[in-house]
Amino acid sequence: MSEEPDTVASVIRDTALVRASGLVKRFGDFEAVRGIDVEVHRGEAFGFLGPNGAGKSSTMRMIACVSPRTSGDLRVLGGDPDVDGPRIRARIGVVPQQDNLDNELTVRQNLHVYGRYFGLPRAHVRARAEELLDFAQLTERADDEVEPLSGGMKRRLTIARSLVNDPELLLLDEPTTGLDPQARHLLWDRLFRLKQNGVTLIVTTHYMDEAEQLCDRLVVMDDGRVVAEGSPAELIRAHASREVVELRFAPGHQERAVPVARELAERVEALPDRLLLYTGDGEAALAAAHRRGLQPVATLVRRGTLEDVFLHLTGRSLVD
Ligand SMILES: Nc1ncnc2c1ncn2[C@@H]1O[C@H](COP(=O)(O)OP(=O)(O)O)[C@@H](O)[C@H]1O
Ligand SMILES: [Mg+2]
Repeated sequence: MSEEPDTVASVIRDTALVRASGLVKRFGDFEAVRGIDVEVHRGEAFGFLGPNGAGKSSTMRMIACVSPRTSGDLRVLGGDPDVDGPRIRARIGVVPQQDNLDNELTVRQNLHVYGRYFGLPRAHVRARAEELLDFAQLTERADDEVEPLSGGMKRRLTIARSLVNDPELLLLDEPTTGLDPQARHLLWDRLFRLKQNGVTLIVTTHYMDEAEQLCDRLVVMDDGRVVAEGSPAELIRAHASREVVELRFAPGHQERAVPVARELAERVEALPDRLLLYTGDGEAALAAAHRRGLQPVATLVRRGTLEDVFLHLTGRSLVD
């Protein structure tokens, strides 16, 4: 085969594992996904960050080839989910928002059954299951039924199950929602390892800390639309500031503080219970606020986050 320029170009284009343009999902009259454009490249951890109802799961289910798109273009691993669904599903791993494990089977049997569902050879599935039990830190629970496991263990088993077919692309819908902080950190660690092993990750979340921990690049979704795109650092630089000062006032005192605050910061957001001052130097802004006679009852200097980005873009909070 000759190496034509065309071939090189198509190889470069092929680094997109998912490419959506003008992607729409409608349920009856209701448009849950309103024409989004997204590209996910090989090896990256890509996120959809947005509040409940933003359209994240609807988007994920179209990418996972379990829900047909209403309109727009969608390519997953180079194929069209409408015609290549089974072939694509064989090469991806899916962790749905709700665990759908088989509660009547043991932990190990859940992995075996799923592997055979993919038509993988029995001996291969058995060996793979032991590797995955170890990876998910569930070896000790391998012969237990699923039902009594903790939420974090069930989530790890669902992830282990999604890896039975050695997928090159792993879709995780709200991987840590409802888990305690320790369980979340353990899961993030496992996902980080997968990424280091070259698995491309797509994660949806409404937790800004999860997006910052896991994602190289993300889109912020709201009301079925993409409202911003970039790395966490780029988004914070563009829509927030390096530091944020939070000022809480005694009832009735916040309103009078707003004009002063506006002179001290690049931008001020007035929330019902506090003022946020966006600034490069939080301690300096706080000192200036005290010098100008402001008397907050509580103060906090912190760095800018994706929560600030979302607030700036939509006027609302990520978590209601
Ligand atoms: N099967 C469905 N039928 C009707 N409406 C749906 C269905 N699935 C989701 N929706 C609606 O679409 C919107 C987006 O939902 P979803 O994609 O689950 O958002 P997210 O995952 O960001 O919370 C919501 O308003 C939800 O109620
Ligand atoms: Mg969802």
